[in-house]
Amino acid sequence: MIPTDVDWAARAEGLADTLKERGDLHAEAWRVAVASVPRHVLVPKTYQQDGQTGEWREIDTASPEGLDLVYSPETLVTALEDRNGHQYAVSSSTKPDLMVRMLELLDINDTHRVLEIGTGTGYNAALLAQRLGDGQVFSVDVDAGLVDGARERLAEFGCRPTLAAVDGEHGLPDHAPYDRIIATCSVPSVPWQWAEQLTDDGRVLVDLKLAVGAGNLVYLNRKPGRLEGRFTERWAAFMAMRHEGDLVTANRPRSTDRAERTTNTPAQPWWSHRVVWFLAQFALPRGVSYGMRLDPDTRKPTAATLSSPDGSWVEVALDEVDGAHQVVEAGVTALWAAVEQAYEQWRDLGEPDWPRLGLTVTPDGQHVWLDEPDGEVSWTVPR
Ligand SMILES: C[S@@+](CC[C@H](N)C(=O)[O-])C[C@H]1O[C@@H](n2cnc3c(N)ncnc32)[C@H](O)[C@@H]1O
Repeated sequence: MIPTDVDWAARAEGLADTLKERGDLHAEAWRVAVASVPRHVLVPKTYQQDGQTGEWREIDTASPEGLDLVYSPETLVTALEDRNGHQYAVSSSTKPDLMVRMLELLDINDTHRVLEIGTGTGYNAALLAQRLGDGQVFSVDVDAGLVDGARERLAEFGCRPTLAAVDGEHGLPDHAPYDRIIATCSVPSVPWQWAEQLTDDGRVLVDLKLAVGAGNLVYLNRKPGRLEGRFTERWAAFMAMRHEGDLVTANRPRSTDRAERTTNTPAQPWWSHRVVWFLAQFALPRGVSYGMRLDPDTRKPTAATLSSPDGSWVEVALDEVDGAHQVVEAGVTALWAAVEQAYEQWRDLGEPDWPRLGLTVTPDGQHVWLDEPDGEVSWTVPR
């Protein structure tokens, strides 16, 4: 039941070859999977934003232009939402290069049963089902509409993994145990229920993000009484796990007690020093978001900003004067001081990159560690 109405097969082969040439894909089994999945069926339309006007344009992925896009390793925006008269991207299809890198990292063999958290378009579930057969693939999404859509579209080309519309935080106990769990949404801490649904030598690959941009993929092995493993060398980011009934808490009004000083810490560690931004979360309150201040006339960015739900904020000038950035801050929480301390600590520790950091998850709590699970330096992940 492979669709024959559009000329997609050569393009899917082309995508597989591109991923191989770029060094994202090595195993023949995954090359065959990428070449066999009609991605345009799972992602029937995408949106592209005009760089000049900011307007979004819908593209049918069965059109020649759409086929070129959907069989390329590009991010595809798949849903927009209207907010205050502006359209924002709210959903996207995970880039195939990231997907295959994660699948290869999981070291999946022919007998494995795999649970995916975050069905989305169903593309990753299709790659898994192509590789392992429908009976060994399970995928859940909290959004029932997405699950229904993915099920229907997967069936169009005869692909029928087990899909369920449930909150993936609880895994899918009815079909456990799994040899591998792969999450394609980020989590603020790793649910212990996943560990309970793994085989004795099972593994989990998940994006741990303590705040926006603050974390990375971590690859965990099941060990007696715990999950343990290191963060991956390459950085990646997935949309955050959400739960039915999630509340948007109102922020307190912006504090007005401004104070000025200077700093030698990089102004945007969330882009330039991701490990520092991650470590800063162990001192920052929950819900701190970063942004940018624009010059009202030129619309050019002039300062990086942080704001906290308690009304505290800070602006750090992007340009340096005499080797330092100007800081303006206000509120009860010293937001930038937390970033400065994390930066100092990171430098004192020898500027570790992701693979020097690891995570241990137990039923009672979880902690990030430096170099060794029982080493001298660790940070407790907030519950
Ligand atoms: C980046 S998308 C996944 C892309 C997907 N793997 C694919 O191949 O198209 C992230 C998905 O995670 C889902 N998600 C968010 N919170 C969830 C939760 N609590 N349980 C399960 N899925 C969740 C979202 O609805 C979204 O579809």
